[in-house]
Amino acid sequence: MPQTYSNTDLGQKLIAYRRELHEYPELSFEEYETTKKLKRWLTDAGIELLDLPLKTGVLAVIRGNKPGPVIGLRADIDALPVQETTGLPFASKVPGKMHACGHDFHTASILGAALLLNEHKADLEGTVKIIFQPAEENGGGGRQVVDSGVLDDARAVFGMHDMPDLPTGTIGIKGGPLMAAVDRFTVDIEGVGTHAAAPQNGIDPIVVASHIITALQTIVSRNLSPLSSVVISVTRLEAGKTWNVVPPAAQFEGTVRTFEDPVRDRIPLKMEHIIKNIASGLGAKGTLHYRRIEPATVNDEKLAGWSRPIAEASGLKVITPDPSFAGEDFAEYRRKIPGVFFFMGVSGNSGLHHPDLIIDEKAILPSAKFFANLAVSMLKKVGNL
Ligand code: NI
Repeated sequence: MPQTYSNTDLGQKLIAYRRELHEYPELSFEEYETTKKLKRWLTDAGIELLDLPLKTGVLAVIRGNKPGPVIGLRADIDALPVQETTGLPFASKVPGKMHACGHDFHTASILGAALLLNEHKADLEGTVKIIFQPAEENGGGGRQVVDSGVLDDARAVFGMHDMPDLPTGTIGIKGGPLMAAVDRFTVDIEGVGTHAAAPQNGIDPIVVASHIITALQTIVSRNLSPLSSVVISVTRLEAGKTWNVVPPAAQFEGTVRTFEDPVRDRIPLKMEHIIKNIASGLGAKGTLHYRRIEPATVNDEKLAGWSRPIAEASGLKVITPDPSFAGEDFAEYRRKIPGVFFFMGVSGNSGLHHPDLIIDEKAILPSAKFFANLAVSMLKKVGNL
């Protein structure tokens, strides 16, 4: 699309916005200053704000001059409890907090798309709602936005995550499952404590937990199709206080990652079966506490297909990414609205959530332009969904 900002002006402006966000990161549901800044920058650009009934986060709207449907663009705005070690001149000024997941990149890029779209309302056949969502990291922000109903009129919604291992100028687009459903479990084992030298007088919960942890791996290897993609990881195991006492109890927890609902639904039942029966077979009691955190992010096939030529026309190289077993609460939007989540290349030096992560700021402007072009094109197409 044509633009009145010169590339250099807009690119520099977005980098300045991103640095301002990067210096003052805020954690999930505490993004008060980020919210204030975004409202100020949007209002200064003459962009209309709508009421978002949440403590933090911003909802902006660009109404095109021509009638048409409503679509949504979403960026997440929260940071992580990580101590930054990059040594950048604009490194986090807040001890123990850092934009280590690149949500400052998402925010600056989608803000750039808003500025571009606002300059070209005449080209817009419909309305673009722009959501700056709080609390992606802790989960809960996406659900609150969706439950608030502010996107009930949207025919499609689009978002992205920066990908440090993809080069700048590259975008990952894939229909179908992209990011995994995230579940969390805790298992309590009740045994009988005893002197370590007299195990026959107790029931050792550590031995019971060990058998269960080993057996849980057979769910993936023996109970599910080899074609299903599933991860079951035990990540914490706690029992006992010293070397010469068998403790009375043990506890472990971990996570399950899946892409398909029928597979996701089977796993807790299978886990419970293994935990209860192995524990009771060894004379102990095993209890499973299982919590579903967020569903899988599954991209709409048609919208993903339509997005590819738009990305190419925006000068991006399109690749088809492998799905990621990480979670993403963009999935909450997909419960109600067709949509696509993209992976944007940022030539990072390190991984997401790492304290030394530096991303390439040159990726912001192409990303902003892509989302602006995407909005213009999708408004013309979503009627055919
Ligand atoms: Ni993230």
